[in-house]
Amino acid sequence: MKRIGVLTSGGDAPGMNAALRAVVRKAIYHDIEVMGVYNGYQGLIDGKIERLDLGYVGDIIQRGGTKLHSARCLEFITEEGQQKAIAQMKKHGIEGLVVIGGDGSYRGAMALTSKGLPSIGVPGTIDNDIPGTDYTIGFDTALNTVIEAIDKIRDTATSHERTFIIEVMGRGAGDLALWAGLAGGAETILIPEVSFDIQDILKRLRSGHDRGKKHSIIIVAEGVMSANEFANLLKEQGNIETRISVLGHIQRGGSPSARDRVLASLFGAKAVEALMEGHGGLAIGMRNHQVVEYSMTEAFNGKHYADLSMYKLSKELAI
Ligand code: F6P
Repeated sequence: MKRIGVLTSGGDAPGMNAALRAVVRKAIYHDIEVMGVYNGYQGLIDGKIERLDLGYVGDIIQRGGTKLHSARCLEFITEEGQQKAIAQMKKHGIEGLVVIGGDGSYRGAMALTSKGLPSIGVPGTIDNDIPGTDYTIGFDTALNTVIEAIDKIRDTATSHERTFIIEVMGRGAGDLALWAGLAGGAETILIPEVSFDIQDILKRLRSGHDRGKKHSIIIVAEGVMSANEFANLLKEQGNIETRISVLGHIQRGGSPSARDRVLASLFGAKAVEALMEGHGGLAIGMRNHQVVEYSMTEAFNGKHYADLSMYKLSKELAI
């Protein structure tokens, strides 16, 4: 393989730049040229492609966002869109592609592979929701951003003896809420993987209050409902007054944590190795602290499981 392409797709995640750096440097180390594709699959269709050198990825390991920019591209789902992208790849001599993104991005990579252009998926999303890997790039940084916010909210919650509802991202997955709730000492965590009982939550809030708790922090994963909806529910069912905080896109930004930089470097390099070995249609991941490659179909047909033992523990610790 003499020339490969790389793109970032879907919602950006801190550490995507570190992964891009690893792809470019690992490939060039092995005398393989790298073409950077801007704006995800849209850039592949439109031919927004340029050669990347070592300097291009200098000074980016610590930067959030993605230097290649990202997009969610509906046109690429169509056969016509894919054919345009393939024509662009051929025109630019791209023999293999590394796609850094979420499971939606993997579908595109799989389509390209089945049409003869081997593509490898590198998991980049704050949601940590890609089946087959314990961690995705960006999750750890987003988690730390959420914790920082919880700690700050806790200060004011204590001063005013209030109940706060904090809404966190995660799409359909509860990982971010669960980990943040456990690390932030939240009284209640709502995740899509576990149905909740409003009466039980009210009972716990009241007994905490009776024991002298000065505040309560409730973490709601966006996949359950909005903080606003849950605030209304607490008001209607328990006459409980709350304040809400929707963390939103600050969770997607910021300098990647050391852990995300390391993960991104390992994953990016592994993706290049996979292409060099002639593979396509593989996803890169981490299982039991080992970097692994596995079938991309497993990544989008499989199911992601939140760690429910953590959920149970969080309830035990928040008595
Ligand atoms: O997948 C990452 C993510 O941040 C989700 O947590 C969230 O639901 C979604 O993207 C938001 O997407 P957008 O930036 O397009 O509003």
